[in-house]
Parts: sequence; structure tokens; C-alpha cells
Amino acid sequence: MESRIELYDSQARYGVVSRGLHWAMALAFVWIYSTTGAHYLLADSALDEFLWPTHKQVGLLLMGLLLVRVVWALLNRHRRPPSLNLAATLGHGLLYAGMFAIPFLGLLRQFGSGRAFTAFGLPIMNGFEGPKIQWMTDLGNSFHSLLGWTLLVLIVGHIGAVILHCGKGQWEVLRRMAGRAARA
Ligand code: HEM
Ligand code: HEM
Repeated sequence: MESRIELYDSQARYGVVSRGLHWAMALAFVWIYSTTGAHYLLADSALDEFLWPTHKQVGLLLMGLLLVRVVWALLNRHRRPPSLNLAATLGHGLLYAGMFAIPFLGLLRQFGSGRAFTAFGLPIMNGFEGPKIQWMTDLGNSFHSLLGWTLLVLIVGHIGAVILHCGKGQWEVLRRMAGRAARA
């Protein structure tokens, strides 16, 4: 059977770049929510001490991957599989909004705190002397965690919607993002 690697998206399925970004980010989300889960439920445990130091770095990685994903989605906007319904359009839009706002607020608070930030051995923020930038830290303190947990609820809803479609026999929805597309 013919099997081609499709770089770009098509009406029938997401291409290899969109899929790679989707699943790589899904894995990174599993990791980052493991860090917050351990931090929230098992504070100061060995697991928390192992995972929590990776939180900011994985968050930065997610922000970087998101920027690439948005550019790729825009380049492919006329050839992507059509949205299933309004709920899917709104749901995916909210996922994108959360994927941007949460690391953005984390980074904004980090910058405003004046503390240096290094990730993957690279200096990301140099930090500065003097008082912190209050509005930046306030915004982060007020919304980063709140939106972070809200996004988790949305992700569970997203996965639930996929399971519902499969339960109704609409496996094509999953095949758009994983596995082979059904031949037209
Ligand atoms: C998509 C990426 C991110 C997600 C989903 C996320 C999610 C979360 C969540 C749910 C919490 C609450 C944990 C708790 O209640 O114990 C949290 C806390 C925290 N996050 Fe993130 N985060 C992300 C990126 C970042 C980034 C990029 C930074 C900084 C560079 C950051 C810094 C922090 C800090 C310092 C806390 C502890 C203070 C607080 O509870 O607000 N996060 N994050
Ligand atoms: C086990 C976990 C996951 C499964 C099974 C899954 C499954 C899928 C499937 C089947 C699609 C195609 C739906 C369609 O075309 O209407 C899709 C699209 C999408 N998923 Fe997921 N997903 C998962 C995790 C996530 C996570 C963690 C996020 C982000 C926080 C996410 C964000 C999106 C977005 C934004 C789309 C729209 C296509 C795009 O722009 O990439 N997914 N997902």
C-alpha cells in the first residue's frame, strides 16, 4: 500500500509537522502538569523536588513550540481539515489562548521580579537591580495559576470530546491527528 509522508496539512488530515507539534506539546503538557500536580498535592516530597525545578524550563519550551505551531497553522490555514462544528472551533481557540496566556504570564512575572532566569543553560533574562515591576508580578500572581488549572480542565474536555466522537464511531476525527486517514 502506498504510504507518503505529507509535510503540509490537507483537507483529510493534519500533516507530519502539525502532528509532531501537537503530540510533542501534548507530552510536554503531561510533564508540566506532573510538576504542578506534585507541587500542589505533594509539596516538598522527593517527587516535587525532582519535578518542580523543571517547571519554568518546560513552560518556556511550550511557549517556543506554540509560536512555531501558530506560524505553521497560519501557513496551512487554507488546507487544514475543516472544523467539525462551532464547539470544536471555540474549544481549539480557547486552547490556543490558554497555551499563550499562561506561559506569557509566567514569563512576565519572572521578568518583573527582577530575578535572572536561565533555561537549558542559556541566559533568558539577566535580571535587574532595584524594585520589582509590581504590575507584572501582580498580573502573574493573579492569573498564572488560575488560568493554568483552567487550561487543564479544557484539555480534559478536549480529550473527552475526541473519545465521544470515537465512541460514536467517528474515528476519522482521531485519524486526522494520528494514524492513517481513511481513503476517500
Ligand atoms: C504552558 C505553560 C505553563 C503551565 C501550563 C503552567 C501551569 C502552572 C500551574 C497550574 C501552576 C500552579 C501550581 C500550584 O498551584 O501549585 C503554576 C505555578 C507556577 N508557575 Fe507555571 N505554568 C506554565 C509556564 C510557566 C512559566 C513559563 C513560568 C516562568 C518562567 C512559570 C512559573 C511558575 C511559578 C513561579 C509558579 C508558582 C507560583 C504560582 O503558583 O503562581 N510557569 N504554573
Ligand atoms: C491524549 C491527548 C490528546 C488527544 C487524544 C488529542 C486529540 C486530538 C485530535 C484527534 C485532534 C483533531 C481534532 C479535529 O481535527 O477536530 C486534535 C486537535 C487539536 N488539539 Fe489535541 N489531543 C490531545 C492533547 C492536546 C493538548 C494537551 C492540547 C493543548 C493544550 C491539544 C490541542 C489541540 C488543538 C489546538 C487542536 C486543533 C488542531 C491544531 O491547531 O493543532 N490537544 N487533538
